[in-house]
Amino acid sequence: MKTRILILLLIGVVANVFSQNQLIIPGTITSSDINLTLQNGTHEFFAGETTVTMGVNGNILGPTLILNQGGNVNINVTNNLGEETTIHWHGLHVSAENDGGPHTIIDPGATWNPQFTVLDRAATYWYHPHLLDVTDEHASKGIAGFIIVKDDDEAALELPRTYGVDDFPLAVQTKDFDANFQIVNHANNDDIVMVNATINPETDIPAQVVRLRLLNGSSQRVFNFGFSDNMTFYQIATDGGLRAEPLALTRLPLSPGERSEILIDLNGLNGQTIQLMSYASEFSNGIYGATYPGMGQGMGLDNYNPNPLNGADFNILQLNVVPQTANPVTTIPSSLVDVIPYLEEDSDQTRTFIMEPTTQGPNQLNGMFTINGVNMDMNIINVTVPLNNIEIWNIQNNTGISHPFHVHDVQYYILDINGNPPPAYAQGWKDTFLVPAGQGTVRFITKFEDFADDTVPYMYHCHMLTHEDDGMMGQFVVVDLLGIDEFDSENEVLLYPNPSEGVYMTIHLKDPSKKILSYAVINELGQIISYHKIHANEISNKYSFPIFELANGTYFIKIYTENQIITKKFIKSNKY
Ligand code: C2O
Ligand code: CU
Ligand code: CU
Repeated sequence: MKTRILILLLIGVVANVFSQNQLIIPGTITSSDINLTLQNGTHEFFAGETTVTMGVNGNILGPTLILNQGGNVNINVTNNLGEETTIHWHGLHVSAENDGGPHTIIDPGATWNPQFTVLDRAATYWYHPHLLDVTDEHASKGIAGFIIVKDDDEAALELPRTYGVDDFPLAVQTKDFDANFQIVNHANNDDIVMVNATINPETDIPAQVVRLRLLNGSSQRVFNFGFSDNMTFYQIATDGGLRAEPLALTRLPLSPGERSEILIDLNGLNGQTIQLMSYASEFSNGIYGATYPGMGQGMGLDNYNPNPLNGADFNILQLNVVPQTANPVTTIPSSLVDVIPYLEEDSDQTRTFIMEPTTQGPNQLNGMFTINGVNMDMNIINVTVPLNNIEIWNIQNNTGISHPFHVHDVQYYILDINGNPPPAYAQGWKDTFLVPAGQGTVRFITKFEDFADDTVPYMYHCHMLTHEDDGMMGQFVVVDLLGIDEFDSENEVLLYPNPSEGVYMTIHLKDPSKKILSYAVINELGQIISYHKIHANEISNKYSFPIFELANGTYFIKIYTENQIITKKFIKSNKY
């Protein structure tokens, strides 16, 4: 079977006689009441062959959600898969509870009801499952859909935006099929390329300016997008927003999870055939998709070679250029929107994340990978971020393969890659980016705003789904250290002596069943001076904390109990 597919594929590439299939365009949901049903199904990827799949409101993939910035959405996700899963809105800035990460499990038969205001910039986002250990299985079997966010800035531009006519969502994936035409996950022989679940796809496309929304929805493979004859195209959006101006390119690498919107100018090309391709032969080794996936000599990945896609240039989608539509867009705009990155000097904190293999040597690519020496543990919060912090995250890849690093909650702006400015196509709002193998570094800056939750974490992880499932993921909470009291603290909490000239101050919760688990001291500007977890043997309803190092002034103490957060003001005044 493998050989048969391989031979067919080669014939297809070489002679272009392989029969083409009409590109599937997912349906849309434009209402703010969104009903999504996760279901098992089957799909005919190969003529006459039935493949078991998973889909949303259908057998495979899911409807495109069209959301408006500022609008409120009410989503019902019903899980009819017969097993647990989650649905995550990749790239959207939503609260941790609404984010659909691994903790927000939808039981079989249950309905999950996230509700949120769309705060995002116009761009292309997506949704997919996110249950630990089975993300690759559920996504590979077919659960994935687009989210298109619209906003006023985008609406004011002369851009193609007629869905499926001059504006195409393209979910590009490779999958591995076994001899019975069933999808295999956690394997490296993904030799079948598809767009929107269509193998060997073709579509009619009008001879004008057309917008393509590219999503790399693969489990592992990186694509080096380009067109036949090296046709120039124009990147107009990165993961989380439009660019300042269109960027002319002939190649655009995208790793799993990344999106880009591009414009192609087909004026005068009526009747021609153009291929969207991946020029993977141009990849240097150390990338999943290159001839060799590892940087190091002899570093291999099981089943990776031979795979006719690795290190080869291959077709992804055939575009058959047809006459113009009425009122076509015929020019590439000269400018788009304001992109105002956070400034490095405004950063409150820098954190370093180091990716490492668990096995050294030539077999390391098959092993598990850690971030800061640890594997994902659902019960451990790896990072606590104060709300409204601007942070620089420095990601260092000490493994032999490049990993796409993704962060939930935020869009980030890349400061540098291996110490150099990022390529122009990566300058803009990003939520996923490939960190180069072999001691490569990516530094980005972002702000953690609007949503704080002491208990439900967000994720950061490698977006190669095999690595993610194997635990190359960590959890962070965003905590509001200056929140409003959740109950009448005047009567429930004593803080004494206050004001104080002394060396200690005592917190006393009147309810003896309550326990003080941690506390933070915050200055008048809202900056966190210190955060302490209380040692297990000192946990009770009473705690004395040191104040002798504090300068005279007004402070807040934020007290965390099992289910409450209490903020109290206090004054340190040393007369002497
Ligand atoms: Cu696209 Cu945490 O995922
Ligand atoms: Cu995500
Ligand atoms: Cu990885």
